Amino acid sequence: MAVKMAKKIDYLPCFTKERIVLEKLSELESPHIPKILFYNDDVLVLTPLGEKINNLRKKDIKDIITTLQNAHSLGIIHRDLRKFNLYRNLDDLCENILIVDWGYSVNNSESAIFAGALECMPDYVLQSLINGEQIAYGPQVDLTCFVRSFYLMLHRPTLDRVPFGKDDNIEERAHMLLNLL
Ligand SMILES: Nc1ncnc2c1ncn2[C@@H]1O[C@H](COP(=O)(O)OP(=O)(O)O)[C@@H](O)[C@H]1O
Ligand SMILES: [Mg+2]
Repeated sequence: MAVKMAKKIDYLPCFTKERIVLEKLSELESPHIPKILFYNDDVLVLTPLGEKINNLRKKDIKDIITTLQNAHSLGIIHRDLRKFNLYRNLDDLCENILIVDWGYSVNNSESAIFAGALECMPDYVLQSLINGEQIAYGPQVDLTCFVRSFYLMLHRPTLDRVPFGKDDNIEERAHMLLNLL
């Protein structure tokens, strides 16, 4: 099992969101989505325990896309798909891929403030950020994030996680990425 603890009080809404969403997703009985064993306000105990991934097999790609489609059919959009939220279950024979970190997920077509990996976002999300608009999230966001994170894994395998920071100018970074990609 994996134990996730909130370091800051600011993260508590994400913990609640993740718990509610994982409870809903449990009806899919998917081997690619973690299950909750125990929780309280700032702790989630999840199973199975996964390992960070360094590669994706053809099967993993198919599994990720199918799992996303199934989550979307329940109206849930992950919104933060990237290498760092993909794990591998080493305890099962197939070493199934796991999609973790559902705390930033939204309901289909819900407008929300930005969260997730800027470098994986579709252009319209970057443009909305630059314009300072609310972002309407649809299922295509997850697919674009997945394709872009896969591209980054292939071409920039050493790309480090970009830390969140107070001085971070998110509009400026969105501008840079929109011109780059
Ligand atoms: N099922 C899991 N197996 C192993 N480690 C996990 C699992 N779920 C989460 N983790 C660990 O907890 C850390 C934080 O998890 P995550 O859900 O991605 O939250 P966040 O990225 O928002 O901090 C991850 O970096 C990972 O080390
Ligand atoms: Mg994460």
